[in-house]
Amino acid sequence: METVQIDLGERSYPIVISQNVMDLRQTWASLPKSAAALIVTNDVVAPLYLARLKQILSQQYAQVHEVVLPDGEAHKDWQTLNLIFDGLLSNGCDRKTVLFALGGGVVGDMTGFAAASYMRGVPFVQVPTTLLSQVDSSVGGKTAINHPLGKNMIGAFYQPQLVVCDLATLDTLPQRELSAGLGEIIKYGPIADMQFFDWLEQNIDGLLRRDRALLAHAVKRSVEIKAWVVGQDEKEAGLRAILNFGHTFGHAIEAGMGYGNWLHGEGVAAGMVMAAELSRRLGMVDEHFVLRLRTLIERAGLPVRGAIIDAKDNAGRYLELMRVDKKSEAGEIRFVLIDRAGQAVMRSAPDALVREVIDCCCA
Ligand code: NAD
Ligand code: GLY
Repeated sequence: METVQIDLGERSYPIVISQNVMDLRQTWASLPKSAAALIVTNDVVAPLYLARLKQILSQQYAQVHEVVLPDGEAHKDWQTLNLIFDGLLSNGCDRKTVLFALGGGVVGDMTGFAAASYMRGVPFVQVPTTLLSQVDSSVGGKTAINHPLGKNMIGAFYQPQLVVCDLATLDTLPQRELSAGLGEIIKYGPIADMQFFDWLEQNIDGLLRRDRALLAHAVKRSVEIKAWVVGQDEKEAGLRAILNFGHTFGHAIEAGMGYGNWLHGEGVAAGMVMAAELSRRLGMVDEHFVLRLRTLIERAGLPVRGAIIDAKDNAGRYLELMRVDKKSEAGEIRFVLIDRAGQAVMRSAPDALVREVIDCCCA
C-alpha cells in the first residue's frame, strides 16, 4: 500500500493508493469516532461499489446512510446539492457524522461542499473512483458546484480527513473517462516535472491498456506533485494556480458546449494545447514543445482542438466565458502559460493574440 501525505498542519491527511484497499478495515481505522456515516454516490457508481463500502463501514459505524445522486456534470448544481442536505437532515445526522464521497470528481466536489456547509462543517472522506478524481480532484480541498454562467463558481476550500484511491475501481471505468483522467495526469509534466512527461511519452500505450503497475505509478506521482503544490499554497494565493494549466480555455469549452457534453479532462486537454500555443506566440516555448504536448494528448485519446462554441463569434464567446474565470482580475483574463518546459507562470495576453490562438486551435 502506498501512502502520500499532504502536509497542511492540523489539516494534514494521508492519500492511500492501492488495489482493493476499500475492503480493508485498517484503511478506515484512523477516522474520527462517530455513530453515523453517510455515503454520497451516484446512480452509476452505486450498483458497482456502494454495497462494498457500506459493508466495511458498517463494522465501524452503527448507522451507515446513503444518498444516491443523479449522475453527471449537468447535475453539479444547487438542486442536486440539496439532495445531500435532505439526506443528512432526514436521517437526523449530527455534526460528528462522517460524509464519504464515493465516485468521480462531480460527487467528490459536491460532497465536499456539503460537508463544508452542513452544520458549518462536518468531517468528510474522499473515495475517488475515476482516474481523474484519484489524480486530482479528491486531493487539495477544492469543493464546488457549477453556475450556468461559470464552472465551479460556488464552493469552498475544505480538506477531507482521508483520501482512499482504490485502483481496482478503475477496472470498470469507460475508456473515454480513462483518457479524461490521463489529461489531468499529462498536465503535471509541463507544470512541474518534465521527467514524468518523458515517462508518460514512453508508457502512454500501457496506461491506455490499464497496466496496473503503470497506473499505480502515474497516480502516485500525480498525487505527490499535487500534494507538494497544495502544501505550499492551500488557498491559491499564487503557486496553486499552476494546477489550472489548460483550464481557462477548457472551462470555457465545458460551459460553452453545455456541462457534460465535453468531459472536464477533454476540455483541459484541448485547453492545454491552446495555452501552449499562446505560450509559443508569446515567445515562451518553441514549436517542438507544442508538438510534443499535442502528440502525447492525441495518443492519450484526447481532443487537441477546441470546440466551436459560437458559430457567429467563436473567439468573442470564449473571451466572454474566460473573463468569468476565478483567476481573472478586474476583468483581465490570466492564463497559466509555460515559460520553458517544467516552468509554469501566470500571465495575461492581448485579446487580439488570444483571438488568433482560438481561431487557429478550434475545429
Ligand atoms: P465524473 O465524476 O462525472 O465521473 C465520470 C463518469 O464516470 C461518471 O459518469 C461517473 O458516474 C462514472 N464513474 C465514476 N467512477 C466509475 C467507475 N469506477 N466505473 C465506472 N464508471 C464510473 O467526472 P470526473 O472526471 O471524475 O470529475 C470531473 C469533475 O471534477 C469536474 O466537475 C471537475 O470540475 C472536477 N474537478 C475538481 C477538481 C478539484 O480540485 N476539486 C480538480 C479537477 C476536476
Ligand atoms: N485542480 C486545480 C486545483 O486543485 O487547484
